[in-house]
Amino acid sequence: MNIAVFASGRGSNLQAILNAIHQGFLPARVTVVLSNNSNAGALEIARLHKIPAVHLSQIQFPSEDAYVETMLAVLQQHGVELIALAGYMKKLPRRVIENFQNRILNIHPALLPAFGGKGMYGHYVHEAVIASGATFSGATVHLVDEEYDRGPIVMQQTVPVEKTDTPETLAAKILHIEHKLYVEALKAFAEQRVVIKERNVWIHSHN
Ligand code: GRF
Repeated sequence: MNIAVFASGRGSNLQAILNAIHQGFLPARVTVVLSNNSNAGALEIARLHKIPAVHLSQIQFPSEDAYVETMLAVLQQHGVELIALAGYMKKLPRRVIENFQNRILNIHPALLPAFGGKGMYGHYVHEAVIASGATFSGATVHLVDEEYDRGPIVMQQTVPVEKTDTPETLAAKILHIEHKLYVEALKAFAEQRVVIKERNVWIHSHN
């Protein structure tokens, strides 16, 4: 399975995906890494691994159409079958979502459908979780549709919120499980063990 990873920041999930591929756990290839941020650590990680690293931002283009056409062309050129968003801070163009229906995943650092949506990213998520008094948080891998953080849930894992947790400690605990959860979800897609029916996603276990 050829994966494109879209990332705006440091790229620890990209690194986890590459590690899982190198260890032979994830039967896939990352054929391109795309970022809206030319300084993204994720682009640097891609270059270190000799993976095409593409900086693509709408401001480089005279029109939205030209931007979307270029994004679609990049995906086609690299034979992309699945897009994995990993801290990608831009909304995907509608045409990309339509062309990759049920083939775009995102990872969110909380238990959706709570603590998601516009503005719920980074430390804002963990601050909101702690302020709510929730005793559990976690990570969610979900399919991407046109609404932020609202696509069907693929996999989730919980972590307890301790009284002593700060947004920083909670973020660190969740990031640790994100790396394993994302790889597990991608593995299920790569091994064609995923059945999607409307909002329900079933993962078959290994044969
Ligand atoms: C992760 O916490 C992920 O859940 C969120 O963005 C962060 C990306 O981190 N969507 P990294 O760039 O993969 O280290």
